[in-house]
Amino acid sequence: MSSEWGPLEGLIGEWEGSGGMDTSYHHADGEIGDTPYLEKVTMKPFGPVDSGRQHLYGLDYKTAMWRDGEENPFHTEVGYWLWDGETGEVLRAFVIPRGIAVLAGGTASADAKEFTMKAAVGDERYPIAEGKYLGANASSVSFEVTIKIGENTWSYDELTMLRMKEFDDLVAHPDRNTLTRVG
Ligand code: HEM
Repeated sequence: MSSEWGPLEGLIGEWEGSGGMDTSYHHADGEIGDTPYLEKVTMKPFGPVDSGRQHLYGLDYKTAMWRDGEENPFHTEVGYWLWDGETGEVLRAFVIPRGIAVLAGGTASADAKEFTMKAAVGDERYPIAEGKYLGANASSVSFEVTIKIGENTWSYDELTMLRMKEFDDLVAHPDRNTLTRVG
């Protein structure tokens, strides 16, 4: 079924997933490690947002992730997902409170059940922006996420590549989870 929200239609709602998995460099341990997590996501529809001939429909997006048994989330994101039905452009603009802002983009059909968005540091269309400290010590050079949408469930598989001062090679920082509708 397609709607004004195109491929984002199936993401509207409240979601939870307890099978999240992160891999990243853990400063406390001095090594790369896995972090399983519980995630809670809300996606509230809005639109249209009109810019001249463009009419975007979007989702107001919040997510938070917890390590087992902890009270405070260790990772959060706020932002917007946007759909341009005229061009098939899909955008995810979000902020991570480490001082990182990402505008990832891609294209999809209106009834797509799978689509990919990408961003890269320095990219003129879909950039990653970061503050001074991260730019010098742990720069997010690229980000790519693939979304798969099912019935009352959706999943993401994402990969951030970091240039870290502790390593000569780029460091992979992948995250994935499957979310189930709770509201
Ligand atoms: C599901 C999404 C994500 C989760 C759960 C997550 C989780 C984590 C964790 C656990 C760390 C390690 C902190 C430490 O122990 O030192 C970390 C570091 C980091 N992440 Fe993520 N992350 C996510 C997405 C992203 C994205 C999308 C970006 C960038 C576009 C990003 C950029 C970074 C950076 C720059 C660091 C800092 C590395 C450092 O401390 O030197 N992360 N993240």
